[in-house]
Amino acid sequence: MYSLQKKIIEEGQVLSDTVLKVDSFLNHQIDPEFVMAMGRELADRYAGDGVTKILTVEASGIAVALTTGLALKVPVVFAKKKKAATQDPQAYSTNIFSFTRQEAVDIYVNKKFINSHDRVLVVDDFLAQGEALRGMVEIVEQAGATLVGVGIVIEKVFQGGGQALREKGIRIESLAPIASLAGGRVTFV
Ligand code: G4P
Ligand code: NA
Ligand code: NA
Repeated sequence: MYSLQKKIIEEGQVLSDTVLKVDSFLNHQIDPEFVMAMGRELADRYAGDGVTKILTVEASGIAVALTTGLALKVPVVFAKKKKAATQDPQAYSTNIFSFTRQEAVDIYVNKKFINSHDRVLVVDDFLAQGEALRGMVEIVEQAGATLVGVGIVIEKVFQGGGQALREKGIRIESLAPIASLAGGRVTFV
């Protein structure tokens, strides 16, 4: 998505060889019109695939998940995070480890919001090592639902999370796949 690449170049800050800051339009301040356009683009890529539900994880994934759901006219569910989820029989849950934050967190979704008839599109803002995604895929599996695919705003391809999941046969669409952040420069795939 050319307009996104342009915005990343103009407004993004490369904090290190692995971290890109995009807090002017996605992660702190949100540009509603732009996030609408990104949601429309992700929805276009999965139009005709019979998506019945969007799944993301709080907090930063919610904006683009909402606009994707708006474009596809389906509800948006966000997994909630907890330090240590007590085993709640009413919820699907799993543990994910954030390499960026070096901490483990439990994520959970109430069972009433995803069932075995759902065709789920997982959406998130970033794909790095793929831990958050792995967790959401697990929740879809626990629900016995069908995973239609994944929509990502910024994929840091060099961190390998996307490759691992694609090797399992999961379809992943990224609006801005980044090959490298080395030398303070954003290089797109
Ligand atoms: P992974 O899920 O793909 O393995 O990534 P990781 O655990 O490393 O990501 C942890 C958090 O950091 C996630 O947000 C993710 O969106 C975010 N993140 C990863 N790489 C970058 C980056 O280069 N830039 C920015 N701005 N964020 C990045 P989170 O902890 O779930 O928090 P929230 O912001 O959604 O609340
Ligand atoms: Na984030
Ligand atoms: Na996220």
